[in-house]
Amino acid sequence: MKIQITAQEISGLNQIIENIPGDKSISHRAIMLGSLTEQEITFSNFLFSEDCLNTVKIFQNLGAKIQYDVNAKTVTLQGNGLYGLKQPQNVLDVGNSGTLIRLITGLLAAQDFTSVIDGDASIKNRPMKRIIEPLSLMGAKINGKIYTGKNDIYPPLEIIGQKLAAIDYQMPIPSAQVKSAIIFASLFQDGTTVITEPLPSRDHTERMLFEFNANLVTKNNQIFVTGNKELFTKATELYIPSDISSAAFFIVLGLVLKNSKLLIKNIGLNPSRTSLIRILIKMGAKITLQNSRLNNFEPYSDILVESSQITNITIPPSDVPLLIDEFPILAILALFGEGEFKVTGAQELRVKESDRIKSIATMVKAFGGTCLTFEDGFAIQGQAKFKDFELDSFFDHRIAMSSIIGAIGAGKSATIDNCECIQTSFPNFMEIIKRLSA
Ligand code: S3P
Repeated sequence: MKIQITAQEISGLNQIIENIPGDKSISHRAIMLGSLTEQEITFSNFLFSEDCLNTVKIFQNLGAKIQYDVNAKTVTLQGNGLYGLKQPQNVLDVGNSGTLIRLITGLLAAQDFTSVIDGDASIKNRPMKRIIEPLSLMGAKINGKIYTGKNDIYPPLEIIGQKLAAIDYQMPIPSAQVKSAIIFASLFQDGTTVITEPLPSRDHTERMLFEFNANLVTKNNQIFVTGNKELFTKATELYIPSDISSAAFFIVLGLVLKNSKLLIKNIGLNPSRTSLIRILIKMGAKITLQNSRLNNFEPYSDILVESSQITNITIPPSDVPLLIDEFPILAILALFGEGEFKVTGAQELRVKESDRIKSIATMVKAFGGTCLTFEDGFAIQGQAKFKDFELDSFFDHRIAMSSIIGAIGAGKSATIDNCECIQTSFPNFMEIIKRLSA
């Protein structure tokens, strides 16, 4: 599907955005952990995107009772307890979701049945050795595809469930997906698994497991999980804040449009996700957090964004893991800023929904900007001379949405091809864009 943006100068916007959808990372985990309890639990502000609906379908297939109301944005689910998952009747299809395939592999590795997981063309290219290695150390049996010339293992994965043992694991890369796969597997083991992270990554799994009274402790950069404890939560109605990575597109739009003010409501501000706000403020962004609240296990606030003069900076490698999904939209912001925007230590971008170093560079060049690429990052020169453009999204939702924001911010015409992928994370993105540009 092509999306066409018609050149128009937008300025003086003064609007409230109340419908940024629920957080994707939390929505996936809500279904996974909710399916491991015997309670009836309702999650509100759930993200009804393709990725999260695939999680719902998979857990229905694994025996959980799940009902949802898309208009009310609620999901009500009831599992069969920690050991209550049932052998699926067919191949589990994760679609485009790297988070889903990695997290669920940890869970399935510990069941007493065999399952097969697969996904779309992009998933078949996502490296799985990072989860297969630690899970195999726990005793898991997982088979995947091996290709000559490539030193990794790829989906489809066959997971032959086993009784797992605790490990002491030093993670070679900072990744919330890998950490969470190990934590999920650890819920079923005897003993205590210790996971050491090289740098912090998002901690939604740990927070939700505290809420569900799991036997989990975090200390500095280590997580200790003791298995075989039934999960339960006191609060059976849980609110999922809106996704800061989705809000990021409109935060950047508010910064680059002249004389504008956008108030973006109910955005999740888990400290392991707010590096974006810290970095934007460092770049000169006028951002104010208002009405901060903590509902259940995740904090959230309203975010007021005002037009700002942006100065580009170099992102230190230590900030990369906590900003990992935000680089496509930061690359767009950099085109409006002054000076050079540089990122290194970000080789993980090569294995996201697309090779994001390549797709970011292609996007920046389509806009008329310059982008140098390295194996582990990129450098963009600010104050680009924008032009009309045509671009392929690389089937990557964040590239599609970033380029649409860039075209509107720069007042240029653009045609962006293969935009169906926006449905994986932000189904009402174009609806918000249409309302703002009306
Ligand atoms: C996610 C973790 C991140 C992120 C992804 C969601 C999660 O991946 O890119 O969109 O929900 O755990 P890595 O932790 O593998 O970098």
